[in-house]
Amino acid sequence: MTDSDLDQFWKGLGDLRRAIDDRLDAWLPAADEPPDRLHKAMRYSMFAGGKRVRPILCLLACRAVGGTDERAMPPACAIECIHTYSLIHDDLPAMDNDDFRRGKPSCHKQFDPATAILAGDALLTIAFGMIGRHTTDPEVASRLVVELADAAGWAGMVGGQMADLQAEGNTPDGDALHFIHQRKTGALIRAAVRTGAIAGGAPDGPLDMLDTYARSIGLTFQIADDILDETATSEEMGKTVGKDKAAGKLTFPAVYGIEESRDRAFRITDQAKRAVEPLGEPAEPLRKLADFIVKRTA
Ligand code: IPE
Ligand code: IPE
Ligand code: MG
Ligand code: MG
Ligand code: MG
Repeated sequence: MTDSDLDQFWKGLGDLRRAIDDRLDAWLPAADEPPDRLHKAMRYSMFAGGKRVRPILCLLACRAVGGTDERAMPPACAIECIHTYSLIHDDLPAMDNDDFRRGKPSCHKQFDPATAILAGDALLTIAFGMIGRHTTDPEVASRLVVELADAAGWAGMVGGQMADLQAEGNTPDGDALHFIHQRKTGALIRAAVRTGAIAGGAPDGPLDMLDTYARSIGLTFQIADDILDETATSEEMGKTVGKDKAAGKLTFPAVYGIEESRDRAFRITDQAKRAVEPLGEPAEPLRKLADFIVKRTA
């Protein structure tokens, strides 16, 4: 697929992105609901202009197993809430200390650190409410809650963020790098795909194929982010770049260099696409999204 085909594909997802945004708008508290500062901060970060990769993945995984978009909306929106919370907290002075996010001042810059902490807390907790409230089958709801709790917490994103901070300044090490990336970023992306497939009623076989796909793209997503931190501009990314090296972050370029990191990302993307080959045409958008993730420039 050429770069302009990929561009077309990404732009073609506009309707899906709008449907996700409309649902998030409906399910988040109104901006003027007291205490309005909290709700304004939640909405500020949520609608600052994220790519919505995770909810799109969730909906496309659901479609790939024959499910309707409606079934995947609760986990899709829940995961975008958890992701947005993770970004708000990641930017805090006590963590990466970043002043820009999604093309705007970070939540703690626009508001203040206490408000940013609370907005993140509220986005994390509302995610589980969305699933419980809007999933009709209670058995599916409980599976989705467990998937999301595992992916977001100590065994997933939060654990990865802890390990990321602890690794700052350490000698670059491939095993530690994979441990961090699979958790801080991979786990939530994997959950996006798995919860979409579960909501769509996937049998075990297709779920396993999608799981293999998701593990791979979860890793390539963060490899691309690490590379872009060294090669893209802050305007392109909508966040401050070039800080990983200065902070001594354990990144793919730090361990393997840019070229080898790119090669690895492309090889892992091929594995991802091959894993969902048996799902045929309904999984074609997922294969395209895998290409988009590795070739993205923002
Ligand atoms: C940024 O995620 C944080 C990482 C896990 C690399 P995204 O690149 O998906 O950020 P948004 O949602 O588009 O802002
Ligand atoms: C963040 O990784 C992963 C999260 C769980 C938020 P980074 O710290 O590299 O993300 P950016 O570059 O700030 O978006
Ligand atoms: Mg970080
Ligand atoms: Mg960061
Ligand atoms: Mg980064």
